Amino acid sequence: MITNINQACDLIIFGTKGDLAKRKLLPALYKLEKYERMHPDTRIIGAGRADWTQEKYIDMVREAIKNFLNEKMKDNIWKKLRLRLVFFNIDVYKEKYFLELKNIINQKKNIAIYYCAVPPSTFNAIFTGLGKAHLNSYPSRIILEKPLGTCLKTSKKINNQIAKYFLESQIFRIDHYLGKESILNLLSLRFANSFFFHNWNHKIIDHIQITVSEEVGIENRWNYFDQMGQTRDMVQNHLLQILTIIAMNQPNDLTSESIRCEKLKILKALDPINEKNINIQSIRGQYTSGIVNGKKVVSYLEENGANIDSLTETFVALKVNIINKKWSGVPFYLRTGKRLARKYSEIVVVFKDIPKNLFKKFNKDLLPNKLIIRLEPNESIKINFLNKIPGINEKYKLKNDEMEFNYSKILDSKNLVGAYERLLLESMKGTQSLFVCRDEIEEAWNWIDPIISYWKISNKNNLQLYASGTWGPKNLDSIMTRDDRFWNKFNYK
Ligand code: BG6
Repeated sequence: MITNINQACDLIIFGTKGDLAKRKLLPALYKLEKYERMHPDTRIIGAGRADWTQEKYIDMVREAIKNFLNEKMKDNIWKKLRLRLVFFNIDVYKEKYFLELKNIINQKKNIAIYYCAVPPSTFNAIFTGLGKAHLNSYPSRIILEKPLGTCLKTSKKINNQIAKYFLESQIFRIDHYLGKESILNLLSLRFANSFFFHNWNHKIIDHIQITVSEEVGIENRWNYFDQMGQTRDMVQNHLLQILTIIAMNQPNDLTSESIRCEKLKILKALDPINEKNINIQSIRGQYTSGIVNGKKVVSYLEENGANIDSLTETFVALKVNIINKKWSGVPFYLRTGKRLARKYSEIVVVFKDIPKNLFKKFNKDLLPNKLIIRLEPNESIKINFLNKIPGINEKYKLKNDEMEFNYSKILDSKNLVGAYERLLLESMKGTQSLFVCRDEIEEAWNWIDPIISYWKISNKNNLQLYASGTWGPKNLDSIMTRDDRFWNKFNYK
């Protein structure tokens, strides 16, 4: 793989007029321009089906960046970026357009990177078009956006289709969570600190909680979301990726091969959730109307385009067991939902009790030690531990204290790299460690598929309603209290 950061690329964005390109990719490219991270000869070729002039495309890009950039757009940066832009009108179902595209791409000097920011139903036409026009040869690369299928079968289909034309080493499957600074920091936290390294196993850890709570609803994506549900939309990819990074053994090195190999072992070791345990190891919910962030919001069934009979879940909690030596007896509790009270993502590692705690008889409740990793917002790492209450009369009385490292404070705007920025840059460098490989995707579906099937057969009663703006279904705690454990309460800091 070519890893030269200075390599010039032709980034061809299929779906350049779409939501993903406007909201994420174009603002990310602006940021790469701002920090001079792109080669001077790199070009951005927007491919879309429209009879647009170059000027019209440039106007659209400018508008999109203005609307979705999290800072004020600067003229000097925009002037540089606009020089890289090229618009290409394409009907991906017609071969002749790919032959024309061939004349536009500078194959001699630039590496072609094809970004498929389009619905999966269009993927195959793009793979085939590129293949037939011989635009697929190494070192070109192709980036795929999720969803990569809706189950193992459809995911395999996409993977087989792309494998006809591209090698695995050319394929970059995006899970944007892998581009987040705080997720990357998990590797350093676990493998660069002896304190954590040696204490990361079933002897020391009681259980781990992973929460990804969202305030947004389905954002006008009824057709997409209703066939996915929160489990396929968030758990199959983002939450399972976090889980693998938290649970994997130390890789041999930091290459993509070694990291992916360890992550894959975890996915293969996930204990199946089946008809026997589905009712105690899963909770699914759907939001009703309510108030989120001071604003009234409608129920899932009242969203644009809704089918009022839908039983799709917008919330899910799972108890996951990993069957290997390291994690034997240590459950991982996962929860994620839309229209919840606050947007935040957090990992909570709860440590085991001391076998004979000398202080127990002097204190009613001794809270367990916890390591709380806030992924966002306000990235931080906290440790909860017990201390003596000061004073002469409080000989053995303890209180729970918190030690905090505020990661977000050292992330100033210059070194805070957005997920898409980082992933685009990595694809330009040709490094795949932050992308998901075929085996990971398929293994994740292999584990998710039965859960969704059992829900379907088990009956509609398993869908709990929850009001928007709350923390999810009322019975959410039961998945933990049954094991005498508790969700860590959200602490707004
Ligand atoms: C996307 C999902 O992959 O991730 C969305 O399709 C979800 O439904 C989003 O809202 C969450 O991403 P983030 O970065 O805002 O946590």
